[in-house]
Amino acid sequence: MTSDAESAQSISALGGRLLTLTAGPPAAGGTFVARHEGRVVFVRGTTPGETVTARLLEDPQEQASARFWRAEALDVLEAGPDRAPTVWEEAGIDGVGGAEWAHIALPAQRRIASEVMQELLRRAGVSSFPIEQVQVEPAPHDAEGLAWRTRVRYAVDADGRVGMRGWRSHEVRPVGEDPLSAQPIRELRLGEWTAPEGTEAIDAVAPSAGPASVVLIGRDLDPDSVVIPESWGDADVAVRTARGLVTLRGDGTVHERVGERLFTVSATGFWQSHRRAAELLSDVVETTLAAPRGGSAWDLYGGVGLFAAVAAQQVGADGTVVTVEGNRRASQLAAENLEDLPQVSTATADVTDWVRARRGGVDAVVLDPPRAGTGIELMELLARTVREKIVYVSCEPSTLARDLAAIEKKGWRISDLRAFDLFPHTHHIESVAVLERASS
Ligand SMILES: C[S@@+](CC[C@H](N)C(=O)[O-])C[C@H]1O[C@@H](n2cnc3c(N)ncnc32)[C@H](O)[C@@H]1O
Repeated sequence: MTSDAESAQSISALGGRLLTLTAGPPAAGGTFVARHEGRVVFVRGTTPGETVTARLLEDPQEQASARFWRAEALDVLEAGPDRAPTVWEEAGIDGVGGAEWAHIALPAQRRIASEVMQELLRRAGVSSFPIEQVQVEPAPHDAEGLAWRTRVRYAVDADGRVGMRGWRSHEVRPVGEDPLSAQPIRELRLGEWTAPEGTEAIDAVAPSAGPASVVLIGRDLDPDSVVIPESWGDADVAVRTARGLVTLRGDGTVHERVGERLFTVSATGFWQSHRRAAELLSDVVETTLAAPRGGSAWDLYGGVGLFAAVAAQQVGADGTVVTVEGNRRASQLAAENLEDLPQVSTATADVTDWVRARRGGVDAVVLDPPRAGTGIELMELLARTVREKIVYVSCEPSTLARDLAAIEKKGWRISDLRAFDLFPHTHHIESVAVLERASS
């Protein structure tokens, strides 16, 4: 929070109008609902029940007829019961983005996320599961919600200063101690380093096996200009320019261990970010998918094969698993990661196109789309094609709710729905829905 004088300065700089608002229930996107003269205002940086001085993001004159306005809390006039000392001084309003709930006590974050998730399901019309049972659960051994992020994209300004962007801002701001990042990423001390000219972003990864990785990204970045600082220890280093990836140390991949299996992932490719996520989600898929022995399964949006490995164990050597992934490199790595499992084959394709082209059915499907969700067409295709079970892993409850409502209309029901706090101190929620035919 800023002092009155600082607030007044930043307000006049932005031309934002000040309002006194009392925040009510949570809304999507990490905001809270307040009212001003009857109009809804979505406020960031506050907590339920507290009164704040907030800066309007819209010009009230230009937006006089808008249904709602948006605002950011600058000063707390009366703190709400969920407010806690922030876990990250540099985050929040006028600070770095990506930790918009750092000022809310962790149990309250989970309660609020549960309310948001339940409301999204209700609004989408989901009806086959007792929605009030959906409660966001912590990841195992994650009491504080700190040091969990194993993938971090840093921004770099024109002077080579490394930081993160503010919310809806291009400005690069210092990250300080960055308490959400896993220890090996913090140890790189990127915030104290000056990146060479032409660096636009830096991807840092703390994998569960092997050294950390640093990839400097810049269209015209000269790999010869990179001097690796001592603080990077034995981290792998690469440079990604418009011409492709140049490795300076390592081979541009990282390694992730889940149980007995080692996965190779591209250093800039997708892997679940929370240090406990891959294992937790694999366990949940293992206990819910129940692909029949000798049967068939698909792993859609499969990445480097995390859930295909689970499905392959279930169907056994006489069964079949296809893992479908749009990114060619991830698909290649999935094939290599699972080459000891001959029942697995890979397809590099758009998932909806691939499923649309299939003739015949499949016993069980696990799918894990990006935030956009599957879309209704794919849910309807799956409703016709899948014989027994669909396990839907989601990182965006609003699109999950839409997709679940769509498949319910096609004769499927939700037999289980769990939500996990895999993004502590942010409003994001991971969840897993288990679907079965309504008649089963
Ligand atoms: C949330 S990740 C899940 C990956 C994997 N299941 C895992 O847990 O590691 C989503 C994946 O879907 C892929 N993807 C996104 N849109 C796609 C599409 N339309 N068709 C195929 N793959 C897609 C992305 O490349 C990414 O690997």
